[in-house]
Amino acid sequence: MSLKIVLLQNKHLEDAAALVTTGYRALRERVPSLPSRYEDASSILPLLRDLAGQAPGVVAMRDGRLAGFLSGMVLPDFRGKRSVYSPEWANAVDREDGGETYREMYAHLSARWVADGCFTHVITLLAQDHDAIDAWYWLGFGLTTVDAIRDLTPVQGSTADVVIRRAGLEDIEQAMALSQALQRYLVAAPIFVIEEHAPLFPLNVEGDEGREQWLANSANALWLAYRDGEVVACMGLEPSSPEACYIIRDEKTISITSAFTRESQRSKGIATALLNHSLNWARSAGYDRCAVDFESQNISATRFWLKHFQPVCFSLIRHVDERTAWVHEEQTRRFVDS
Ligand SMILES: CC(C)(COP(=O)(O)OP(=O)(O)OC[C@H]1O[C@@H](n2cnc3c(N)ncnc32)[C@H](O)[C@@H]1OP(=O)(O)O)[C@@H](O)C(=O)NCCC(=O)NCCS
Repeated sequence: MSLKIVLLQNKHLEDAAALVTTGYRALRERVPSLPSRYEDASSILPLLRDLAGQAPGVVAMRDGRLAGFLSGMVLPDFRGKRSVYSPEWANAVDREDGGETYREMYAHLSARWVADGCFTHVITLLAQDHDAIDAWYWLGFGLTTVDAIRDLTPVQGSTADVVIRRAGLEDIEQAMALSQALQRYLVAAPIFVIEEHAPLFPLNVEGDEGREQWLANSANALWLAYRDGEVVACMGLEPSSPEACYIIRDEKTISITSAFTRESQRSKGIATALLNHSLNWARSAGYDRCAVDFESQNISATRFWLKHFQPVCFSLIRHVDERTAWVHEEQTRRFVDS
C-alpha cells in the first residue's frame, strides 16, 4: 500500500512517541542494561512537543495509520557548518518496510532542510534496526559516532601493573598534558575531529576555573594510572553526559567522557585496568550501568570499547553538495503546496 507523506502536526505526536518506544523496547530486549524509563511514551512525548514547535517534520501515513515520522533540530554550528540533527527520539518507522518509509520521508524533508541552509544532515538510529541503517546508507549517509553501554560487572583481564589514583586539583597540569595529547590524536588521521572546546579536560569544561570545579565535584571522577611514578593514562567519568544519546541518560547511568593511554604504554592492559577500577567505583556509588560514546573512525577506541560495551545508537552523517542550492527553493515550494 502506498505511503502518503505530510507535514508532522501535533495530532501525530502521540503515535510518533509510541513508534519510538516500540523500537526502544526491541533494542532493550537485546541490551537489557538500558534504562526502562524510555519504554514509556510519556518520556518521549514532551521532547517531540518541544521540537514540533521549533522545526518542521514529516510523517508517513499508510492506510490512515502512522507508518513513520522524521524531524530534526537545526544546529547552527556543528563541525563548523549549519546542520540539522535528528536524535533517536525524533525519528522512527513501523516494521512494514521501514527502510522505504525512511527514504520517502527523507526525500521530502531534506528539501526543507537544504532550503533552510542546512547542508549537513545527521541522524541517530537505534543500533538493532539494521533495515533502517541500511536505508540511510543507501541515502548517502555514513557512520560517524557510536553510543554504547554495559552493566557494571568487572571486566576480565585487567592485570596491568599500574597504580590508579583519583586526580585532585594538584593534578590539573598532568591532566591537561594528557588532554592535549588526546586532542592531537583526535584531530589527526583517520579521525580528523576537532573537539568544540579544545584543548580541554574534561571534554565539556573550559578554563582553569571550570576544570577545578569539575574536579572538586565528587559526582565526577578522573582516574590517573601511574607507572614508575609517571602518569601514563587516564579515564574520566561523569553522570550521564549531555554529549551522549538521549536514551541512556538516567540517574543510574555513569558516562565515560575521556580515556587516553600514552602511545608507548598502549596494549599493556592499562585502559582495561582503569575501566575495571571505574566500574568498581560506579558500582559503589550506586550506579547500574556505564555508557561511552566514540567516533567510529577512531580505530583504537572502536577496538577497545566494542570489546567491553554493546552499541545502542549509531549516528550517521551526510554532507550535501552546496553547489546544488539553486534547486531547493523550488522543491520546497512544491512540497508545501502539495
Ligand atoms: C583506546 C585506548 C585508551 C586503549 O588503551 P590501552 O591502555 O592500550 O588499552 P588496553 O591495553 O587495556 O587494551 C588494549 C589491548 O591490549 C590488550 N592487552 C595487552 N595486555 C593486557 C593485559 N595485561 N590486560 C588486559 N589487556 C591487555 C587487550 O586485550 C587489548 O587488546 P586489543 O588490542 O585486541 O583490543 C588507547 O588505545 C588510546 O589512548 N587511544 C587513543 C585515544 C583514544 O582514542 N581515546 C578514546 C577516546 S573515546
